[in-house]
Amino acid sequence: MYPRLKKHSKRAGDTGSSSDPLQSRSKYILRNSRSDLRVPDAKADLYLIGLGIGGFDQRTVEVDHLLRGAAAVLHLTAFDPELREICSGQVEDLSGIYFCGKRAAEVYDAMAEHVMEVALANHVLGYSCFVTYGHPLFLVDTSWDLRRRTDLRVKPVAATSFVDQIMCDLEHRFDYGVQHYEANRFLRMSPRIDSRFPLIVSQVGEVGSDRIELRGRKLAWLTPLFEEVMEKYPNDRQCDLVFSAYRRDMAPKVSSATVGEIFTLASSVHVGTTLVVHGSESK
Ligand SMILES: C[S@@+](CC[C@H](N)C(=O)[O-])C[C@H]1O[C@@H](n2cnc3c(N)ncnc32)[C@H](O)[C@@H]1O
Repeated sequence: MYPRLKKHSKRAGDTGSSSDPLQSRSKYILRNSRSDLRVPDAKADLYLIGLGIGGFDQRTVEVDHLLRGAAAVLHLTAFDPELREICSGQVEDLSGIYFCGKRAAEVYDAMAEHVMEVALANHVLGYSCFVTYGHPLFLVDTSWDLRRRTDLRVKPVAATSFVDQIMCDLEHRFDYGVQHYEANRFLRMSPRIDSRFPLIVSQVGEVGSDRIELRGRKLAWLTPLFEEVMEKYPNDRQCDLVFSAYRRDMAPKVSSATVGEIFTLASSVHVGTTLVVHGSESK
């Protein structure tokens, strides 16, 4: 959290002068240059930002300040108009790169490459932000790729993930213990599961695919995942397919069934859904 500073004011440790592009761009925020980027007000060149799965209103005060003062904001969200409204720098929607039909790994690489290029080109003007939904490091390969780069100081900023939102939407206790896997890894590794505790499987809509695409014939590709769940949990255990709201005008969608009837959930699966199997000890 940052004290609201008067325009042109300085704090101890600030190296900038009035000609510092970051200071002159933003009246909201002054950060200190520090080598340890985990310090809350440490300054970076590229911020990895999550808008919070609950939507644009879920952004933190810190994120709001960062977005307003950035030289460039590159995002993959439905909030292009809202971002253009508050950002003073350039705003770019990355959906053109995202939906180009290539393999997912190539798309994530291409996005990282482009974000780094833009951040470097704008470096003289100030910092840049790469913006996605939820937590910026949770299942966002591009953020991990950027975080490993050494050309610029890259700093992830914590945000509400879909797991935080599911905790609110399901009234289900994950704080006693939870098992959590990405769908493809869960299938590939078949980890030992303790059925007393809940299981969260993310990216169910992407199971068995290495592409970003709309997919038909859901039963065919969901069968191995559902069979794996049926093997690990008793038939009478409840499971939920969840899509939490990310805009104000949406309600969460939750479809429920027992594990024995899990195939009835297939038609509700899409790319943003998460599967939650209840534990016996988690109510
Ligand atoms: C690419 S990951 C992004 C996760 C995001 N960074 C986060 O922290 O919430 C997408 C996966 O997150 C989960 N997810 C994303 N949005 C969701 C939502 N609104 N409700 C439930 N699960 C969601 C789904 O499992 C989906 O397949």
